[in-house]
Amino acid sequence: MSASSPHPLHAIDLIRKKRDGGSLDEREIAYLVSGAATESIPPEQLSAWLMAALLRGLSLQETRFLTLAMRDSGEQFHPARLGRTAVDKHSTGGVGDKTSFLVAPIAAACGLAVPMISGRALGHTGGTLDKLESIPGYRTALSLAEFESVLAQCGASIVSQTPSLVPADRVLYALRDRTGTVESPGLICASILSKKLAAGLDALVLDVKTGSGAFLRNRDDAQYLAALMVATAEAAGTRTVALLTDMDQPLGQAAGNWIEIAECLELLRGLQPAASEDLRRLSLALAGWMIHLGGKAPTPEVGTQLAEAALTDGSALAVFTKMVDAHGGDVSVFEEPSAFHKPGATHILEAWETGTIAAMDTTAIGWAVQRTGAGCEKAGQPVDPHAGIFFHARRNDPIEKGQPLATLYAGSADKFPEPIALLKQAIRIGGSPPQPAPELIQHIFTRENAEAWLAHPDKVRGTASSS
Ligand code: URA
Repeated sequence: MSASSPHPLHAIDLIRKKRDGGSLDEREIAYLVSGAATESIPPEQLSAWLMAALLRGLSLQETRFLTLAMRDSGEQFHPARLGRTAVDKHSTGGVGDKTSFLVAPIAAACGLAVPMISGRALGHTGGTLDKLESIPGYRTALSLAEFESVLAQCGASIVSQTPSLVPADRVLYALRDRTGTVESPGLICASILSKKLAAGLDALVLDVKTGSGAFLRNRDDAQYLAALMVATAEAAGTRTVALLTDMDQPLGQAAGNWIEIAECLELLRGLQPAASEDLRRLSLALAGWMIHLGGKAPTPEVGTQLAEAALTDGSALAVFTKMVDAHGGDVSVFEEPSAFHKPGATHILEAWETGTIAAMDTTAIGWAVQRTGAGCEKAGQPVDPHAGIFFHARRNDPIEKGQPLATLYAGSADKFPEPIALLKQAIRIGGSPPQPAPELIQHIFTRENAEAWLAHPDKVRGTASSS
């Protein structure tokens, strides 16, 4: 080795360094990421490093190095060829969270390109791809060339990750899932942003959930993650904001697969059901920011007005229908969504006492939805497109004993006892006056305030609390 050539790296040294509380430099992180992508570092060493990173935390600098090294670990998409500004929205996951089916067509109807690379159900949360695949024929696995062609035709395309995009995340994510190392802000940030940045976005709007149905239930953890993602994506050159939003009850009325698409179709047709108002309001706010950051509106408020116009004048519905058709989906089922909904069995859960809906443990509700068959217990298992739960009451609503609280749909009636038991534990009907509900949109992190928030000594937390 010459005096100027850098010393060779060894995974064992990097594990020990992190274990003992050290910070890794850019070259050391790049070595681990390339070892993950090429599978030249064995899983036990990567897992040990992930656990050390989760327990010790990653600095802002380490998170940036990790995000960029992961972004660069595979092929990248170049939407500049489309001649439209490319924007996207990403949610950290929730129950009944179906905003993608509204914001993607709205933003495309306003002249932007939305190359949305989405995921499947994870833990208690639903998966955008599973919901789209409830539309007969919809293909989520497109090649990059097909993705580009759908985007050129429709302005929006929602697809699954390709094998060549961010291969390091595929390896690291699977290890995190099996080794209890998901809940680290730095690792979550690098995992999500590496995929978003590899899609070549000009702007990104993040919906970071907080509350009983979020992955990071603790509000401080969710705020830290939001600020961290904004600062990291901005440093990588992508205009980014994060909205901290309520996940203390399901979003909208439906949680499942087809029933979520059907709820969105109502809004895309310009209807405004009162019980879907939170879904409509959040989608318009997210789309408003996408339109603003994409340069089509001078402020997010004007963006929201444009978004509302696209929802009510039918242009977002036209984009959604065209996009589904371009993906091979049978759009004739949109004509009568309720006629297409054919679950094997239906059960109406009635309120077991009179009072007010005092609390909804939304993680437990998410598991109830999954147990109807709407989600899968093991990766790769098929999901039931018609399964799910439709909620007739929301937090703080008054309810009479015997009144329908939720309708459950499943492939067969023997699937009902477990989700019913989960719902009865998760939903508390109280007699006392309702408590004020958390705000739907609790905070907005922008490049102007995220760095300052992270610089505050009280806010420095590389590790998630265990709540
Ligand atoms: N979604 C991802 O893609 N990665 C994470 O780490 C968490 C949610």
